[in-house]
Amino acid sequence: MTESNASATGPQIPAHVPPELVRDVDFYQITVGDDPQRDFKERFAGDPAIFYIPRTARDPQWGNWVITRREDILAVMQDPQTFSSRHIAGFDRALGGEEWLAYPVEIDPPDHTKFRALLNPLFAPARIKALEASMRAHTVGVIEAIVDAGEVDFQAVASELPAGIFSHLLGISIDETLAVMGNVRRILHSGYDQIARKAGLEWLMAFEQELIKRREHERGDDLISIVLDARVDGRPLTEKEIFGLFFFFLLAGLDTVAGALGLHFRHLAIDVPLRRRLVSDPSAIPDAIEELLRRYSQITTNRFVTRGVEFRGVSLRKGDNLILSLPLANLDDEVFSDPLAVDVDRQQSPHIAFGAGLHRCIGSNIARQQLRITYEEWLKRIPDFRLTPGAEVQAICSEALVLKNLPLSWAVMGLESTNDSPSHS
Ligand code: HEM
Repeated sequence: MTESNASATGPQIPAHVPPELVRDVDFYQITVGDDPQRDFKERFAGDPAIFYIPRTARDPQWGNWVITRREDILAVMQDPQTFSSRHIAGFDRALGGEEWLAYPVEIDPPDHTKFRALLNPLFAPARIKALEASMRAHTVGVIEAIVDAGEVDFQAVASELPAGIFSHLLGISIDETLAVMGNVRRILHSGYDQIARKAGLEWLMAFEQELIKRREHERGDDLISIVLDARVDGRPLTEKEIFGLFFFFLLAGLDTVAGALGLHFRHLAIDVPLRRRLVSDPSAIPDAIEELLRRYSQITTNRFVTRGVEFRGVSLRKGDNLILSLPLANLDDEVFSDPLAVDVDRQQSPHIAFGAGLHRCIGSNIARQQLRITYEEWLKRIPDFRLTPGAEVQAICSEALVLKNLPLSWAVMGLESTNDSPSHS
Protein backbone atom coordinates (compact mmCIF):
# COMPACT_ATOMS: atom_id res chain seq x y z
CA MET A 1 0.00 0.00 0.00
CA THR A 2 0.96 3.58 -0.40
CA GLU A 3 -0.66 6.56 1.11
CA SER A 4 2.10 8.51 -0.53
CA ASN A 5 3.24 12.06 -0.13
CA ALA A 6 1.98 12.61 -3.65
CA SER A 7 1.74 16.38 -3.48
CA ALA A 8 5.48 16.68 -2.91
CA THR A 9 6.41 14.91 -6.15
CA GLY A 10 3.17 14.44 -8.09
CA PRO A 11 1.39 16.64 -10.60
CA GLN A 12 0.63 20.27 -9.74
CA ILE A 13 -2.77 20.77 -8.12
CA PRO A 14 -4.86 22.67 -10.73
CA ALA A 15 -5.98 26.19 -9.80
CA HIS A 16 -9.71 25.28 -9.80
CA VAL A 17 -9.20 22.72 -6.98
CA PRO A 18 -9.85 24.23 -3.52
CA PRO A 19 -6.82 23.31 -1.32
CA GLU A 20 -9.10 22.19 1.53
CA LEU A 21 -10.45 19.41 -0.72
CA VAL A 22 -7.04 17.87 -1.47
CA ARG A 23 -6.37 14.49 0.16
CA ASP A 24 -2.90 12.99 -0.10
CA VAL A 25 -3.87 9.38 -0.72
CA ASP A 26 -3.77 6.88 -3.59
CA PHE A 27 -7.36 5.64 -3.76
CA TYR A 28 -6.32 2.48 -5.61
CA GLN A 29 -3.69 1.51 -3.05
CA ILE A 30 -5.26 1.80 0.39
CA THR A 31 -4.11 -0.62 3.10
CA VAL A 32 -6.95 -3.07 3.70
CA GLY A 33 -7.36 -6.18 5.83
CA ASP A 34 -9.70 -9.17 5.73
CA ASP A 35 -12.82 -6.94 5.51
CA PRO A 36 -11.63 -4.46 2.86
CA GLN A 37 -15.01 -2.72 2.45
CA ARG A 38 -15.20 -1.96 6.18
CA ASP A 39 -11.62 -0.65 6.13
CA PHE A 40 -12.44 1.58 3.17
CA LYS A 41 -15.55 2.94 4.84
CA GLU A 42 -13.63 3.72 8.04
CA ARG A 43 -10.68 5.23 6.14
CA PHE A 44 -12.89 7.80 4.35
CA ALA A 45 -15.54 8.33 7.04
CA GLY A 46 -14.47 11.91 7.84
CA ASP A 47 -13.88 13.06 4.26
CA PRO A 48 -16.21 15.29 2.24
CA ALA A 49 -18.56 13.84 -0.39
CA ILE A 50 -16.17 15.08 -3.10
CA PHE A 51 -12.42 15.48 -2.68
CA TYR A 52 -9.32 15.62 -4.88
CA ILE A 53 -6.32 13.28 -4.93
CA PRO A 54 -3.21 14.48 -6.79
CA ARG A 55 -2.00 11.14 -8.12
CA THR A 56 -2.61 7.38 -8.29
CA ALA A 57 -0.27 4.52 -9.17
CA ARG A 58 -2.75 3.61 -11.91
CA ASP A 59 -2.59 6.99 -13.66
CA PRO A 60 0.40 8.86 -12.20
CA GLN A 61 0.16 11.59 -14.85
CA TRP A 62 -3.04 13.23 -13.56
CA GLY A 63 -5.02 14.02 -10.42
CA ASN A 64 -8.58 12.87 -9.76
CA TRP A 65 -11.74 13.89 -8.03
CA VAL A 66 -13.23 11.15 -5.84
CA ILE A 67 -16.96 10.93 -5.17
CA THR A 68 -18.38 8.52 -2.65
CA ARG A 69 -22.13 9.17 -2.17
CA ARG A 70 -24.59 6.88 -3.88
CA GLU A 71 -26.82 9.69 -5.19
CA ASP A 72 -23.85 11.59 -6.69
CA ILE A 73 -22.45 8.47 -8.37
CA LEU A 74 -25.88 7.65 -9.77
CA ALA A 75 -26.20 11.20 -11.18
CA VAL A 76 -22.81 10.88 -12.90
CA MET A 77 -23.54 7.42 -14.33
CA GLN A 78 -26.87 8.62 -15.70
CA ASP A 79 -25.39 11.62 -17.55
CA PRO A 80 -22.99 10.26 -20.21
CA GLN A 81 -23.09 13.56 -22.12
CA THR A 82 -21.34 15.37 -19.25
CA PHE A 83 -19.41 12.40 -17.84
CA SER A 84 -17.78 10.35 -20.58
CA SER A 85 -16.62 6.74 -20.37
CA ARG A 86 -14.16 7.13 -23.24
CA HIS A 87 -10.80 5.70 -22.20
CA ILE A 88 -11.79 5.27 -18.54
CA ALA A 89 -9.96 1.97 -18.08
CA GLY A 90 -6.99 2.92 -20.28
CA PHE A 91 -5.53 -0.56 -20.64
CA ASP A 92 -3.87 0.61 -23.87
CA ARG A 93 -1.89 3.08 -21.75
CA ALA A 94 -0.47 0.12 -19.82
CA LEU A 95 0.45 -1.72 -23.00
CA GLY A 96 1.92 1.28 -24.78
CA GLY A 97 1.89 1.53 -28.57
CA GLU A 98 -1.32 2.08 -30.47
CA GLU A 99 -4.49 3.42 -28.92
CA TRP A 100 -7.44 1.03 -28.55
CA LEU A 101 -10.60 0.96 -26.45
CA ALA A 102 -12.28 -1.64 -24.26
CA TYR A 103 -15.77 -2.27 -25.70
CA PRO A 104 -18.48 -1.42 -24.71
CA VAL A 105 -17.37 0.06 -21.38
CA GLU A 106 -15.17 2.78 -22.91
CA ILE A 107 -17.69 3.82 -25.58
CA ASP A 108 -20.15 6.72 -25.27
CA PRO A 109 -23.53 7.08 -26.95
CA PRO A 110 -24.58 6.84 -29.72
CA ASP A 111 -21.99 4.13 -30.59
CA HIS A 112 -22.30 2.43 -27.21
CA THR A 113 -25.79 1.12 -28.04
CA LYS A 114 -24.56 -0.48 -31.27
CA PHE A 115 -21.71 -2.37 -29.60
CA ARG A 116 -23.64 -3.34 -26.51
CA ALA A 117 -26.36 -4.80 -28.77
CA LEU A 118 -23.78 -7.20 -30.24
CA LEU A 119 -23.40 -8.82 -26.83
CA ASN A 120 -27.13 -9.21 -26.19
CA PRO A 121 -27.47 -12.71 -27.75
CA LEU A 122 -24.89 -14.06 -25.29
CA PHE A 123 -26.77 -12.61 -22.32
CA ALA A 124 -30.38 -13.36 -23.29
CA PRO A 125 -32.19 -14.50 -20.11
CA ALA A 126 -33.41 -17.72 -21.78
CA ARG A 127 -29.83 -18.61 -22.78
CA ILE A 128 -28.50 -17.96 -19.27
CA LYS A 129 -31.28 -20.05 -17.75
CA ALA A 130 -30.59 -22.86 -20.22
CA LEU A 131 -26.96 -22.90 -19.07
CA GLU A 132 -27.91 -23.48 -15.44
CA ALA A 133 -27.54 -27.28 -15.62
CA SER A 134 -24.03 -27.16 -17.07
CA MET A 135 -22.96 -24.39 -14.65
CA ARG A 136 -24.26 -26.54 -11.80
CA ALA A 137 -22.46 -29.67 -13.04
CA HIS A 138 -19.16 -27.77 -13.27
CA THR A 139 -19.68 -26.23 -9.82
CA VAL A 140 -20.50 -29.59 -8.22
CA GLY A 141 -17.39 -31.12 -9.83
CA VAL A 142 -15.12 -28.39 -8.40
CA ILE A 143 -16.65 -28.66 -4.90
CA GLU A 144 -16.62 -32.46 -4.83
CA ALA A 145 -12.94 -32.48 -5.71
CA ILE A 146 -12.12 -30.73 -2.42
CA VAL A 147 -14.91 -31.76 -0.04
CA ASP A 148 -12.88 -34.58 1.57
CA ALA A 149 -9.80 -32.40 2.06
CA GLY A 150 -11.34 -30.52 4.99
CA GLU A 151 -9.56 -27.30 4.07
CA VAL A 152 -8.90 -25.18 1.02
CA ASP A 153 -7.93 -21.73 -0.17
CA PHE A 154 -11.47 -20.84 -1.20
CA GLN A 155 -10.28 -17.91 -3.32
CA ALA A 156 -8.49 -20.38 -5.60
CA VAL A 157 -11.66 -22.49 -5.84
CA ALA A 158 -13.71 -19.34 -6.50
CA SER A 159 -11.49 -18.59 -9.48
CA GLU A 160 -12.20 -22.00 -10.99
CA LEU A 161 -15.98 -21.77 -10.72
CA PRO A 162 -16.74 -19.15 -13.42
CA ALA A 163 -14.56 -21.16 -15.83
CA GLY A 164 -17.59 -23.41 -16.58
CA ILE A 165 -19.80 -20.67 -17.97
CA PHE A 166 -16.95 -18.79 -19.66
CA SER A 167 -15.67 -21.84 -21.49
CA HIS A 168 -19.20 -22.12 -22.88
CA LEU A 169 -19.55 -18.43 -23.83
CA LEU A 170 -16.13 -18.48 -25.51
CA GLY A 171 -16.40 -21.99 -26.97
CA ILE A 172 -13.04 -23.05 -25.48
CA SER A 173 -11.95 -25.80 -23.07
CA ILE A 174 -11.88 -25.42 -19.28
CA ASP A 175 -8.07 -25.65 -19.32
CA GLU A 176 -7.86 -22.83 -21.84
CA THR A 177 -10.31 -20.79 -19.76
CA LEU A 178 -8.16 -21.29 -16.65
CA ALA A 179 -5.09 -20.11 -18.59
CA VAL A 180 -7.05 -17.04 -19.72
CA MET A 181 -8.04 -16.37 -16.11
CA GLY A 182 -4.43 -16.59 -14.94
CA ASN A 183 -3.54 -13.83 -17.40
CA VAL A 184 -6.55 -11.71 -16.45
CA ARG A 185 -5.27 -11.85 -12.85
CA ARG A 186 -1.77 -10.81 -13.98
CA ILE A 187 -3.38 -7.66 -15.38
CA LEU A 188 -5.74 -6.93 -12.50
CA HIS A 189 -3.77 -8.00 -9.44
CA SER A 190 -0.22 -6.96 -10.24
CA GLY A 191 -0.40 -3.77 -8.15
CA TYR A 192 0.01 -1.75 -11.40
CA ASP A 193 3.29 -3.47 -12.24
CA GLN A 194 3.64 -2.45 -15.90
CA ILE A 195 5.74 -5.47 -16.87
CA ALA A 196 3.24 -7.99 -15.48
CA ARG A 197 0.26 -6.11 -16.99
CA LYS A 198 1.92 -5.92 -20.38
CA ALA A 199 2.77 -9.63 -20.32
CA GLY A 200 -0.86 -10.49 -19.45
CA LEU A 201 -2.23 -8.23 -22.19
CA GLU A 202 0.11 -9.63 -24.81
CA TRP A 203 -0.81 -13.20 -23.87
CA LEU A 204 -4.52 -12.38 -24.26
CA MET A 205 -3.93 -10.68 -27.61
CA ALA A 206 -2.06 -13.72 -28.93
CA PHE A 207 -4.76 -16.07 -27.62
CA GLU A 208 -7.49 -14.00 -29.29
CA GLN A 209 -5.64 -14.07 -32.62
CA GLU A 210 -5.43 -17.85 -32.40
CA LEU A 211 -9.12 -18.10 -31.50
CA ILE A 212 -10.08 -15.95 -34.49
CA LYS A 213 -8.14 -18.33 -36.76
CA ARG A 214 -10.07 -21.29 -35.31
CA ARG A 215 -13.43 -19.55 -35.79
CA GLU A 216 -12.63 -18.47 -39.35
CA HIS A 217 -12.87 -22.17 -40.24
CA GLU A 218 -15.74 -23.11 -37.98
CA ARG A 219 -18.30 -20.77 -36.44
CA GLY A 220 -20.23 -21.54 -33.23
CA ASP A 221 -22.57 -19.45 -31.08
CA ASP A 222 -19.71 -18.06 -28.97
CA LEU A 223 -18.45 -14.49 -28.55
CA ILE A 224 -15.81 -14.58 -31.29
CA SER A 225 -18.18 -16.17 -33.84
CA ILE A 226 -20.76 -13.50 -33.07
CA VAL A 227 -18.37 -10.58 -33.46
CA LEU A 228 -16.79 -11.99 -36.64
CA ASP A 229 -20.22 -12.02 -38.31
CA ALA A 230 -21.41 -8.74 -36.76
CA ARG A 231 -21.99 -5.50 -38.65
CA VAL A 232 -21.92 -1.99 -37.17
CA ASP A 233 -23.24 0.77 -39.46
CA GLY A 234 -23.23 -1.84 -42.23
CA ARG A 235 -19.50 -2.73 -41.94
CA PRO A 236 -17.63 -5.59 -40.26
CA LEU A 237 -15.81 -4.89 -37.00
CA THR A 238 -12.17 -3.82 -37.11
CA GLU A 239 -9.44 -5.91 -35.46
CA LYS A 240 -9.18 -3.39 -32.63
CA GLU A 241 -12.92 -3.45 -32.01
CA ILE A 242 -12.97 -7.25 -31.88
CA PHE A 243 -10.06 -7.30 -29.43
CA GLY A 244 -11.66 -4.53 -27.33
CA LEU A 245 -14.86 -6.57 -26.99
CA PHE A 246 -13.08 -9.84 -26.26
CA PHE A 247 -10.70 -8.23 -23.79
CA PHE A 248 -13.27 -6.40 -21.69
CA PHE A 249 -15.65 -9.37 -21.71
CA LEU A 250 -12.93 -11.40 -19.97
CA LEU A 251 -11.82 -8.69 -17.60
CA ALA A 252 -15.30 -7.72 -16.56
CA GLY A 253 -16.65 -11.18 -16.02
CA LEU A 254 -14.06 -13.66 -14.89
CA ASP A 255 -12.51 -12.02 -11.90
CA THR A 256 -15.56 -10.15 -10.60
CA VAL A 257 -17.52 -13.35 -9.99
CA ALA A 258 -14.52 -14.95 -8.28
CA GLY A 259 -14.07 -11.76 -6.23
CA ALA A 260 -17.69 -11.73 -5.08
CA LEU A 261 -17.55 -15.43 -4.14
CA GLY A 262 -14.47 -14.90 -1.94
CA LEU A 263 -15.95 -11.90 -0.13
CA HIS A 264 -19.31 -13.63 0.40
CA PHE A 265 -17.86 -16.90 1.65
CA ARG A 266 -15.60 -15.12 4.16
CA HIS A 267 -18.77 -13.58 5.53
CA LEU A 268 -20.62 -16.91 5.60
CA ALA A 269 -17.68 -18.47 7.45
CA ILE A 270 -18.01 -15.99 10.33
CA ASP A 271 -21.75 -15.23 10.34
CA VAL A 272 -22.96 -18.54 11.75
CA PRO A 273 -26.66 -17.56 12.20
CA LEU A 274 -26.93 -16.44 8.57
CA ARG A 275 -25.16 -19.55 7.30
CA ARG A 276 -27.44 -21.84 9.31
CA ARG A 277 -30.48 -19.97 8.05
CA LEU A 278 -29.41 -20.48 4.44
CA VAL A 279 -28.70 -24.17 5.06
CA SER A 280 -32.16 -24.74 6.53
CA ASP A 281 -33.96 -22.41 4.11
CA PRO A 282 -32.22 -22.18 0.71
CA SER A 283 -35.09 -19.96 -0.55
CA ALA A 284 -33.42 -17.12 1.40
CA ILE A 285 -30.24 -17.43 -0.70
CA PRO A 286 -31.18 -14.84 -3.40
CA ASP A 287 -31.89 -12.17 -0.73
CA ALA A 288 -28.62 -13.02 1.03
CA ILE A 289 -26.75 -12.65 -2.26
CA GLU A 290 -28.22 -9.16 -2.86
CA GLU A 291 -27.33 -8.03 0.64
CA LEU A 292 -23.79 -9.37 0.39
CA LEU A 293 -23.36 -7.80 -3.07
CA ARG A 294 -24.25 -4.49 -1.40
CA ARG A 295 -22.16 -4.93 1.76
CA TYR A 296 -19.13 -6.23 -0.12
CA SER A 297 -19.21 -4.26 -3.41
CA GLN A 298 -15.91 -4.41 -5.19
CA ILE A 299 -15.75 -2.11 -8.23
CA THR A 300 -14.37 1.42 -8.42
CA THR A 301 -14.84 3.00 -11.86
CA ASN A 302 -14.38 6.49 -13.31
CA ARG A 303 -15.62 9.08 -15.83
CA PHE A 304 -14.07 12.08 -17.64
CA VAL A 305 -15.78 15.47 -17.52
CA THR A 306 -16.71 16.73 -21.02
CA ARG A 307 -17.50 20.40 -20.20
CA GLY A 308 -17.11 22.86 -17.35
CA VAL A 309 -19.84 22.11 -14.81
CA GLU A 310 -20.70 22.84 -11.17
CA PHE A 311 -21.06 19.61 -9.22
CA ARG A 312 -21.89 19.50 -5.50
CA GLY A 313 -20.47 23.01 -5.03
CA VAL A 314 -17.23 22.30 -6.89
CA SER A 315 -16.24 23.61 -10.35
CA LEU A 316 -15.23 20.73 -12.57
CA ARG A 317 -13.23 21.43 -15.75
CA LYS A 318 -13.33 19.64 -19.08
CA GLY A 319 -10.92 16.68 -18.91
CA ASP A 320 -11.11 16.22 -15.11
CA ASN A 321 -11.32 12.59 -14.02
CA LEU A 322 -13.94 11.48 -11.47
CA ILE A 323 -13.33 8.30 -9.49
CA LEU A 324 -16.63 6.61 -8.52
CA SER A 325 -16.39 4.24 -5.56
CA LEU A 326 -19.20 1.68 -5.58
CA PRO A 327 -18.02 0.07 -2.30
CA LEU A 328 -18.49 3.44 -0.56
CA ALA A 329 -21.76 4.22 -2.41
CA ASN A 330 -23.26 0.97 -1.17
CA LEU A 331 -22.21 1.74 2.41
CA ASP A 332 -23.66 5.27 2.28
CA ASP A 333 -25.25 6.09 5.68
CA GLU A 334 -27.70 8.44 3.98
CA VAL A 335 -29.22 5.57 2.01
CA PHE A 336 -28.65 2.40 4.08
CA SER A 337 -29.30 2.26 7.81
CA ASP A 338 -26.42 0.66 9.73
CA PRO A 339 -24.70 0.00 6.37
CA LEU A 340 -21.92 -2.26 7.67
CA ALA A 341 -24.47 -4.69 9.16
CA VAL A 342 -25.53 -7.61 7.00
CA ASP A 343 -29.32 -7.70 7.18
CA VAL A 344 -30.87 -10.08 4.70
CA ASP A 345 -34.34 -8.75 5.57
CA ARG A 346 -33.69 -5.12 4.60
CA GLN A 347 -36.87 -3.74 3.07
CA GLN A 348 -35.09 -1.19 0.87
CA SER A 349 -31.73 -1.96 -0.70
CA PRO A 350 -31.16 0.06 -3.87
CA HIS A 351 -27.54 -1.04 -4.21
CA ILE A 352 -25.50 -0.21 -7.31
CA ALA A 353 -22.94 -3.02 -7.12
CA PHE A 354 -23.47 -3.58 -10.88
CA GLY A 355 -23.34 0.14 -11.73
CA ALA A 356 -26.21 2.13 -13.26
CA GLY A 357 -27.28 3.85 -16.46
CA LEU A 358 -26.12 2.86 -19.96
CA HIS A 359 -23.10 0.88 -18.81
CA ARG A 360 -24.91 -1.09 -16.11
CA CYS A 361 -23.39 -4.57 -15.98
CA ILE A 362 -24.65 -6.79 -18.78
CA GLY A 363 -23.46 -9.90 -16.90
CA SER A 364 -25.36 -9.36 -13.64
CA ASN A 365 -27.71 -12.30 -14.23
CA ILE A 366 -24.85 -14.66 -15.03
CA ALA A 367 -23.08 -13.47 -11.88
CA ARG A 368 -26.18 -13.96 -9.72
CA GLN A 369 -26.78 -17.42 -11.20
CA GLN A 370 -23.19 -18.54 -10.51
CA LEU A 371 -23.37 -17.16 -6.96
CA ARG A 372 -26.71 -18.87 -6.25
CA ILE A 373 -25.57 -22.25 -7.61
CA THR A 374 -22.35 -22.06 -5.57
CA TYR A 375 -24.20 -21.18 -2.35
CA GLU A 376 -26.68 -24.03 -2.94
CA GLU A 377 -24.19 -26.73 -3.83
CA TRP A 378 -21.53 -25.75 -1.26
CA LEU A 379 -23.96 -25.45 1.66
CA LYS A 380 -25.49 -28.85 0.80
CA ARG A 381 -22.08 -30.54 1.05
CA ILE A 382 -20.24 -28.29 3.53
CA PRO A 383 -22.84 -26.68 5.80
CA ASP A 384 -20.36 -25.87 8.59
CA PHE A 385 -17.06 -24.21 7.82
CA ARG A 386 -14.83 -21.56 9.32
CA LEU A 387 -11.79 -19.42 8.66
CA THR A 388 -8.80 -21.69 9.20
CA PRO A 389 -7.45 -20.78 12.66
CA GLY A 390 -4.12 -18.98 12.53
CA ALA A 391 -4.24 -18.38 8.78
CA GLU A 392 -4.19 -14.79 7.58
CA VAL A 393 -6.76 -13.51 5.05
CA GLN A 394 -5.23 -10.92 2.72
CA ALA A 395 -7.00 -8.46 0.45
CA ILE A 396 -6.15 -6.55 -2.71
CA CYS A 397 -7.00 -2.90 -3.32
CA SER A 398 -7.12 -1.66 -6.93
CA GLU A 399 -10.14 -0.90 -9.16
CA ALA A 400 -11.54 -4.02 -7.46
CA LEU A 401 -11.55 -4.51 -3.71
CA VAL A 402 -11.26 -8.29 -3.30
CA LEU A 403 -9.55 -11.02 -1.28
CA LYS A 404 -6.23 -12.51 -2.27
CA ASN A 405 -6.74 -15.72 -0.34
CA LEU A 406 -9.40 -17.27 1.89
CA PRO A 407 -8.27 -20.27 3.97
CA LEU A 408 -11.40 -22.22 5.00
CA SER A 409 -11.66 -25.48 6.91
CA TRP A 410 -14.42 -27.90 7.92
CA ALA A 411 -14.90 -31.29 9.50
CA VAL A 412 -14.67 -34.26 7.19
CA MET A 413 -17.17 -37.05 7.83
CA GLY A 414 -15.88 -39.46 10.46
CA LEU A 415 -13.39 -36.93 11.82
CA GLU A 416 -13.94 -34.52 14.72
CA SER A 417 -16.33 -31.62 14.06
CA THR A 418 -15.34 -27.97 13.60
CA ASN A 419 -15.92 -25.39 16.32
CA ASP A 420 -17.64 -22.46 14.73
CA SER A 421 -15.99 -19.12 15.17
CA PRO A 422 -18.08 -16.49 16.98
CA SER A 423 -21.03 -14.92 15.21
CA HIS A 424 -20.27 -11.63 13.51
CA SER A 425 -21.93 -9.31 11.09
C1 HEM B 1 -20.30 -9.97 -9.21
C2 HEM B 1 -19.89 -9.86 -10.47
C3 HEM B 1 -19.87 -8.56 -11.25
C4 HEM B 1 -19.80 -7.27 -10.80
C5 HEM B 1 -19.77 -6.77 -9.35
C6 HEM B 1 -19.80 -6.41 -11.97
C7 HEM B 1 -19.79 -5.03 -11.94
C8 HEM B 1 -19.88 -4.22 -13.05
C9 HEM B 1 -19.96 -2.78 -13.01
C10 HEM B 1 -19.94 -1.94 -11.76
C11 HEM B 1 -20.05 -2.34 -14.30
C12 HEM B 1 -20.21 -0.88 -14.75
C13 HEM B 1 -18.86 -0.22 -15.03
C14 HEM B 1 -18.99 1.23 -15.38
O1 HEM B 1 -20.10 1.78 -15.51
O2 HEM B 1 -17.94 1.89 -15.54
C15 HEM B 1 -20.01 -3.50 -15.16
C16 HEM B 1 -20.07 -3.46 -16.54
C17 HEM B 1 -19.92 -4.57 -17.33
N1 HEM B 1 -19.88 -5.88 -16.93
FE1 HEM B 1 -19.98 -6.54 -15.03
N2 HEM B 1 -19.84 -7.20 -13.10
C18 HEM B 1 -19.90 -8.52 -12.70
C19 HEM B 1 -19.98 -9.62 -13.52
C20 HEM B 1 -19.94 -9.59 -14.89
C21 HEM B 1 -19.97 -10.76 -15.76
C22 HEM B 1 -20.13 -12.20 -15.26
C23 HEM B 1 -19.85 -10.31 -17.04
C24 HEM B 1 -19.79 -11.08 -18.32
C25 HEM B 1 -20.04 -12.34 -18.47
C26 HEM B 1 -19.77 -8.86 -16.98
C27 HEM B 1 -19.65 -8.04 -18.08
C28 HEM B 1 -19.73 -6.67 -18.04
C29 HEM B 1 -19.68 -5.84 -19.24
C30 HEM B 1 -19.50 -6.31 -20.68
C31 HEM B 1 -19.80 -4.51 -18.79
C32 HEM B 1 -19.80 -3.25 -19.65
C33 HEM B 1 -21.22 -2.88 -19.96
C34 HEM B 1 -21.32 -1.62 -20.80
O3 HEM B 1 -20.35 -0.84 -20.87
O4 HEM B 1 -22.38 -1.42 -21.41
N3 HEM B 1 -19.83 -8.47 -15.67
N4 HEM B 1 -19.92 -4.63 -14.38
